[in-house]
Amino acid sequence: MTARVPAKVNVQLAVGGRRPDGFHGLANVFLAVGLHDEVTASPASPADGGQGPQLTVSGPDARHVPLDGSNLAARAARLLAERHGREPHVRLHIAKDIPVAGGMAGGSADAAGALLACDALWETRTSPDELRALGAELGSDVPFALVGGAALGQGRGELLTPLETGGTFHWVFAVADGGLSTPAVYRECDRLREAAGTGADADSVPEPRPSQDLLDALRTGDAAALAAAMANDLQAAAVSLRPSLTDTLKTGTAAGALAALVSGSGPTCAFLARDSGSASVIAAALEDSGHCRAARVTTAPASGATLVE
Ligand code: C5P
Repeated sequence: MTARVPAKVNVQLAVGGRRPDGFHGLANVFLAVGLHDEVTASPASPADGGQGPQLTVSGPDARHVPLDGSNLAARAARLLAERHGREPHVRLHIAKDIPVAGGMAGGSADAAGALLACDALWETRTSPDELRALGAELGSDVPFALVGGAALGQGRGELLTPLETGGTFHWVFAVADGGLSTPAVYRECDRLREAAGTGADADSVPEPRPSQDLLDALRTGDAAALAAAMANDLQAAAVSLRPSLTDTLKTGTAAGALAALVSGSGPTCAFLARDSGSASVIAAALEDSGHCRAARVTTAPASGATLVE
């Protein structure tokens, strides 16, 4: 059983104060984009070795993916098995195309793919609601990888409201060398807020709210209006930890991007383009500049996790 799962970009990431549980309240507008991982679940028995899922990964970034019990796809398979009172005997193969530790929720996509593929393989018939609830236990971005399209994520990002989109948006993603740790970027965001004297806790940071202009732009498919409304509160923290991202962002803007922003916690940079021709020009400029490892052209919205076999 193979599940195909999309990456995401956050067209708005409004970060509230640090909560007592260490997470941050968010108004997080997710958009699924056409870069995908594929997660294949196939039968395994204890005689094949090991108790838990047996994991393999292919793709250009495969060596950066942890193969131990910390892998989110393996944890997803274990959680689903436990919920249904069965052993997590399964082989999982991840064909990885989403940048690793790039701010595009690649690990969350793999968890969503593992939930869907294992549920089909084991015939455990988990309802979509229950799959999303299991996803939320694994990570804040996992429920969105199941749903895809566009959605507003509140709470720590896991409480989803689907959003309407009108038309296709054209994107370029500049993939960086090396990842950034999401917790480290949130910590840097807190540090910058404390250094600015505003405080970082939930009682000192205003409640994050979605931008109505941005939601309208998504609904009408207006790329210029979306560009004007996009914002990422984690961008300053990602740039603080990786100052070279400033050059990447400038390169895409100079090549005609309607807007440039860091994707989630970075370091992937996202560029919204007027059309597919402009996207190709931006991608070529980024590749020529040497300010990124690769530039990927794609469109949004993309569907959520889907079984393909
Ligand atoms: O939920 P997830 O495992 O993806 O979160 C990874 C880390 O990112 C958390 O441990 C936390 O440090 C940070 N985070 C946060 N607030 C959120 C989501 C994530 O502080 N809303």
